[in-house]
Amino acid sequence: MGFLEQIDIEKIPQHVAVIMDGNGRWAKEKGKLRVFGHQNGVLAVRDTVEGAVELGVKYLTLYAFSTENWNRPKLEVLALMELLVATINKETKTLMNNGVRLNAIGNLKSLPEKCYRQLQETIVKTSQNTNCTLTLALSYSSRWEITNAAKNLALKVEQGELKASEINEDIFASELNTASMPDPELMIRTSGEFRISNYLLWQLAYSELYFTPKLWPDFRRDDLFEAVLDYQKRERRFGLTSEQLP
Ligand code: FPP
Repeated sequence: MGFLEQIDIEKIPQHVAVIMDGNGRWAKEKGKLRVFGHQNGVLAVRDTVEGAVELGVKYLTLYAFSTENWNRPKLEVLALMELLVATINKETKTLMNNGVRLNAIGNLKSLPEKCYRQLQETIVKTSQNTNCTLTLALSYSSRWEITNAAKNLALKVEQGELKASEINEDIFASELNTASMPDPELMIRTSGEFRISNYLLWQLAYSELYFTPKLWPDFRRDDLFEAVLDYQKRERRFGLTSEQLP
């Protein structure tokens, strides 16, 4: 039986977050430039988005570019930005066909103008879609996001809009880029690295973490299904030991 058939449709995670890692190594294994890995990573993105829609995952959040990624060789950064613009433009049709709404989190103002404009254009175009929200984390770092939230709250206190004693977890979360989304129940990282890498630190507090040795360009919807199945097996313990389960 395939992974999809084994999945309990009643227990689909609402929000799946992904760290797409291993593009560079994938390309290197093939004797190609790193950018070849990123280009092939786009195929994995498309298939994963379609897989998420097929499952009924309501929020899919992909780590596409971290704040730290700006320190990569200039040519690679440029190629990644170009790839993002081209992909978002080309895939707008796929998003529309699948009822996917595009969203972005991160320091979007630091993106090249062309990238920012393309992003906004597709965000507006897809804003009425309701099957799934695809969020790209771009120029994103969780510590940056958390620091900003603290700054905004401090400003509100300074301006007398809020009392320091009123600040609680809900109010804090409402200042994060992810304010309108539930926290991810499942976080997937590819390429055999066991790190969170400054990704959704607040939001992943209670998430199940799933690591696969597969490099991102090889990741397909079936790998997503496998991860969801693994998540469902863990969830089903409900705090009991394996021996207590029927
Ligand atoms: C990590 O692999 C991948 C990235 C930094 C970029 C991810 C971008 C894409 C998959 C392409 C465009 C995406 C969208 C959403 C349109 P790495 O380069 O760190 O690989 P390595 O660890 O093997 O060097």
